[in-house]
Amino acid sequence: MAAVIPVNLPQDAYEIVIASHGLDKLGEYLSGLKLGKNILLVSNSTVFPLYGARAIASLESAGFDVSECLLPDGENYKTLESIQQIYNTALENRLERSATMVALGGGVIGDMTGFAAATWLRGINFVQVPTTLLAMVDASIGGKTGVNHPQGKNLIGAFHQPRLVLIDPEVLSTLPVREFRAGMAEVIKYGVIWDGELFAKMAASSGLDRMDSISPELINLILTRSCQAKADVVSQDEKEAGLRAILNYGHTIGHAVESLTGYTLVNHGEAVAIGMVAAGKIAVALGMWTEAEAVKQDALITQAGLPTKLPQGLDITAIAITLQLDKKVKAGKVRFVLPTQIGAVTVTDTVSSEVISQVLQGMTGG
Ligand code: NAD
Ligand code: GLY
Repeated sequence: MAAVIPVNLPQDAYEIVIASHGLDKLGEYLSGLKLGKNILLVSNSTVFPLYGARAIASLESAGFDVSECLLPDGENYKTLESIQQIYNTALENRLERSATMVALGGGVIGDMTGFAAATWLRGINFVQVPTTLLAMVDASIGGKTGVNHPQGKNLIGAFHQPRLVLIDPEVLSTLPVREFRAGMAEVIKYGVIWDGELFAKMAASSGLDRMDSISPELINLILTRSCQAKADVVSQDEKEAGLRAILNYGHTIGHAVESLTGYTLVNHGEAVAIGMVAAGKIAVALGMWTEAEAVKQDALITQAGLPTKLPQGLDITAIAITLQLDKKVKAGKVRFVLPTQIGAVTVTDTVSSEVISQVLQGMTGG
């Protein structure tokens, strides 16, 4: 049975479909969208050998003409050069306005395919087939697409909503455990900012740190509730005029940690985990959140095999300087998303630098 979660946008409504072995029905799902015949499948050198043949077989048996663009794997390749490669393949295969780009991969492939689709011939359809937990619950939903600039992550981009997000949970079986945990950080984020019941269900589970220690029922719940949370938020605030900012919970300090460690030592999910611990401590220091709930959050993060301390040797002054460069800084004030209870947060730019550095001091020694 498939779960279907609508993303209710006035101009660009679409569905998130979560279906076991859904990859083999990709063609069927796309047929229902009344798209043109030509498809450009974009993937990478890791994911394509695992799942490319099944995706293509399904599309071809539904009558689509499929060409492929395979990019090298990694955040380092989330560049305009890779976008150029997608355009070149689009040109070689005469991709017209009725064509569709399909992203088969994690968030890197999804963000790039979406950006190429947003800009090729001033915008064509695209479909997300996310293959990491992080991309399933976060990156594939909501239409933020783009690439990195040498000076900063995701500086170049466009809002462009997919026509469909198709999630096949079975593909998580090949995902490296560290990538699975990175996705769990975003799932825990939804529990803290939006869905207290999801948080409680995860807290009651004995293992959360690897796919095979979680029951299929809980995986299903994690996927549906997380996608629902993201769909709810994006439906209310597509272009991040207000509410959508809560999705950045844990990302303020998280981004600083990620960038200061070169995006490799600490991955995105690990950095978000550290950022959520820091935001929780700030909220407690400001009397906005109870210590008891912050402890519960940190315990869940640990249960998911994620870090709660700053990496050893990371300079706290450097974090403070990096915070000032963050995209979320307005008029020199750093914006924080802070919990008020499990399932609810508030956004504030009034956290003093003293409180930030006091909290960070208490988080050293990871
Ligand atoms: P990723 O795309 O780099 O994937 C992680 C690794 O897992 C890669 O090596 C990939 O090839 C491999 N992989 C993917 N699926 C696999 C599978 N099923 N089996 C085996 N290996 C597999 O990383 P990610 O964490 O998915 O995404 C991170 C990116 O997403 C970042 O660039 C970030 O900026 C972006 N992002 C975007 C949004 C958004 O709203 N658009 C939100 C969050 C993150
Ligand atoms: N990942 C944050 C957002 O989609 O807004």
